[in-house]
Amino acid sequence: MSDVVIVGAQWGDEGKGKIVDVYTERAQIVARFQGGHNAGHTVVVGEETFILHLIPSGILHEGKTCVIGNGVVVSPEALVKEMDSLARRDIAVEGRLFVSDRSHVIMPYHVALDIAREGKSAGKAIGTTGRGIGPAYEDKAARSGIRIGDLENPPVFRERLSDALDFKNFVLREYFGADGFDEEEVYESTLALADRFLPFIIDTGDLLQKAIASGRNILFEGAQGSHLDVDHGTYPYVTSSSTVAGGACAGTGIGPKSIDTVVGISKAYTTRVGSGPFPTELADEMGERIREEGGEYGATTGRPRRCGWFDAVVVRQSARLNGMTGLVITKLDVLDGIDPIRICVGYTCGENRYDVLPSGLQELEKCRPVYEEHPGWSTPTAGCRDWEHLPQEAKSYIGRIEELTGVRVTLVSTGQERSEHLELFDPFDR
Ligand code: GDP
Ligand code: IMO
Ligand code: MG
Repeated sequence: MSDVVIVGAQWGDEGKGKIVDVYTERAQIVARFQGGHNAGHTVVVGEETFILHLIPSGILHEGKTCVIGNGVVVSPEALVKEMDSLARRDIAVEGRLFVSDRSHVIMPYHVALDIAREGKSAGKAIGTTGRGIGPAYEDKAARSGIRIGDLENPPVFRERLSDALDFKNFVLREYFGADGFDEEEVYESTLALADRFLPFIIDTGDLLQKAIASGRNILFEGAQGSHLDVDHGTYPYVTSSSTVAGGACAGTGIGPKSIDTVVGISKAYTTRVGSGPFPTELADEMGERIREEGGEYGATTGRPRRCGWFDAVVVRQSARLNGMTGLVITKLDVLDGIDPIRICVGYTCGENRYDVLPSGLQELEKCRPVYEEHPGWSTPTAGCRDWEHLPQEAKSYIGRIEELTGVRVTLVSTGQERSEHLELFDPFDR
């Protein structure tokens, strides 16, 4: 029996969806614990591509139970849309998708506030996904949020909606000069959507605890990345949830002792979408080459991703923040033919040398990467499924990442498709 948490080790889009899909075979339950439909997790099965935003990637495996935990913020519209799009591809969620009664609802005014705020912060915009994530978590912390369980009780929902709208409409109209919302319309449309998933609403913490007690394997699917964490990331250029492994407990209602293994996912280089510091960013032809070779365009918003060299400072810090027991390196194939390859091993900032990210944004923005060079490889790694067949230079590149981060590599991914990877050890095997 083993419970495994998967987290992003960088700034998101590391390939978590693909790896969760690979590991789902060995679990009975896959649970999301934070974030919302700001996530875009791509899974490629044969010729087919799926992009999951809110429903755990495990849903693609028949018979697996999927949980949207209490730490997630749920857009009823996004949930229904995703259920419908899966149904069109003959994937039924009924009876195996469960949504926590304690998870918070993303309301239409959260989306409007997210967009209005970004529009008003010219030059300082975070570059959010515009999905209402921040405003929904703000309401949760302010204790004025609406929980999924409230949708089962229309009078309670009506009262909480009315209280919330009173203030939100004032802010939207008076401060942002934007349109407000009609209470009746929001009430009716939200309940109409909720009708579609009322049978899925349960106490998911209870489900997970019972599953653990009966020895079932659970895979916790992190969204975003460790450096987008609201506490530990490059604040304020972060998302609004706890993206690190610790969030899996608070976000699903299980105790820390139930977690056996934490696997971090990292690309063989670095990307970031949205604003914020990125010390190894390449604003040159090499950055462009990586973007094109890696297809680095957002799975949620389609925005081009910023690209740069592998930053060992970033991943080493993630290893510590998450108590990582294994590391997955994805997209090794994208580096095929690049020579030399650079790895950032530390930063300098004036007289100071850093081996962790400084917490001050201004200091971090001034940090310059210290690089070491690594020879590239001439035999392609694309589609490689066997460690023995990797070129020696690629093996030593991975070995160097292990040394610099202090974590063993469990799996190397060499292509988009489900089967394009090679495994070094099994995180479920304790
Ligand atoms: P996630 O948000 O962490 O699940 O990652 P995304 O799905 O947003 O972005 C990762 C992208 O890289 C997707 O298009 C994946 O299909 C793709 N991908 C994942 N692993 C590999 C790999 O090893 N090689 C290549 N070339 N593409 C990969
Ligand atoms: P997955 O799970 C990459 C980024 C946004 C923005 C910041 C805040 O696919 O890895 P938000 O809408 O969350 O308030 O935006 O966080 N961001 C992501 N970047 N991958 C993601 O998810 C992201 N989810 C949010 O671009 O910079
Ligand atoms: Mg993504």
